[in-house]
Amino acid sequence: MGTRKGYPPARAAPARAGQPRAQAPNRAAPAGPLRRARYAVPVTGLYVHVPFCSALCPYCDFAVVVGRREQHERYADALLAEFEAAAWPERFETIFIGGGTPTFVDPALLARVLAAPGPAAEVTIEANPESTETGALRALAERGVNRVSIGAQSFAPHVLRALGRTHTAADIPRAVGAARAAGIDNVSLDLIYGSSGESVEDWRATLQQAIALGVEHLSCYALTIEERTAFGTAVARGTMTPPDEDALAERYEVACELLARAGFEHYEISNWARPGRESRHNLIYWTQGDYLGLGLGAHSHRQGHRWWNTRALQAYLADPARARAGEETLTPEQRADEWLQLRLRLIEGVDVAEAETRLARKLSTPTRALQDAGLATLDQGRLHLTTRGMLLENEVALRLLGATRTTTP
Ligand SMILES: C[S@@+](CC[C@H](N)C(=O)[O-])C[C@H]1O[C@@H](n2cnc3c(N)ncnc32)[C@H](O)[C@@H]1O
Ligand code: SF4
Repeated sequence: MGTRKGYPPARAAPARAGQPRAQAPNRAAPAGPLRRARYAVPVTGLYVHVPFCSALCPYCDFAVVVGRREQHERYADALLAEFEAAAWPERFETIFIGGGTPTFVDPALLARVLAAPGPAAEVTIEANPESTETGALRALAERGVNRVSIGAQSFAPHVLRALGRTHTAADIPRAVGAARAAGIDNVSLDLIYGSSGESVEDWRATLQQAIALGVEHLSCYALTIEERTAFGTAVARGTMTPPDEDALAERYEVACELLARAGFEHYEISNWARPGRESRHNLIYWTQGDYLGLGLGAHSHRQGHRWWNTRALQAYLADPARARAGEETLTPEQRADEWLQLRLRLIEGVDVAEAETRLARKLSTPTRALQDAGLATLDQGRLHLTTRGMLLENEVALRLLGATRTTTP
């Protein structure tokens, strides 16, 4: 559920729109400081995609290749060439090295790439538990890496097996310890719920173990079955059952409840943070900020213009400065619609008056209907999704976007 961290959204709708459609009890968004607009000013970010992994997970549709150690250095050179050719005019406030598995690659190569953009306020690296080492992270911390996002997925051994993961539950605390030992005080875990064989108790225990590790940030994603994956093929052939939507809704509610009780702020549909530890990089995507994406399949956005790279490794390596596979410019109307869709994902909600101006639509009728349906609440002019509304976020956005435009923006 929710846009996966670090990865620029590919299109107007969030890239990971795996919202279960099942009914769930209505709960209002939490009271507190997030009721005000906190994320008003977009900043600029750099996304660096590292496509190499030691094995291919059966649910993953990211641009990845297995192994290819002999091409890692050439790939780092290609990233640098692409960065130079992009001639991005501003400095970056955030950098996100995502994957693939950045920790599968020699840290000296990543350090070389990081030297090009120079320092940034938040520099995240994605890590897999089995390849998170203190020495490597220390070398990267010297180059400015100050946040680590570990793909834990689950603490239940049978769930890790069902997901085809190569790490064990014991690797997760070891990886968190390695990040701490490297001096990194901002650690996030990714978790996936809804795998086959996962009970609600397994999920509860996973959340409790994640909380007990004292991490600063958690992303909880519903397992999404993607067409071009082994799971996608198995579901299409009828040899695998897709996650049950009621079960996903129940898991989501458990996450909302346990994480709130543990003092995490729920700030985006799929993301929770200790106060002040939200992912500044991912907030760029949700606030329509500008970002440059480097590497295989990476997406970029600048003031309404979007472009994306090829997913073919050899084509990328052959000419990284001309790796663009497509581009589009959003109309002001599309940009306003996307603004609403993305803003709805944030727990701080949407200022209805601002939405009406941007969308050139009166929203009082759909807003009232959403409240009556228990999908949203209205508080001091801000529309917030309820938990049930978050489960049905795409539908809520469609209802608001379906309201008739009053003028052409
Ligand atoms: C593409 S991975 C890259 C990071 C790292 N290689 C890993 O596997 O943890 C980023 C995150 O996306 C999430 N993810 C990837 N595919 C998913 C899917 N089909 N359904 C739900 N979450 C998914 C996982 O939680 C994962 O940690
Ligand atoms: S989920 Fe992570 S480790 Fe698995 S194939 Fe995708 S990027 Fe690689």
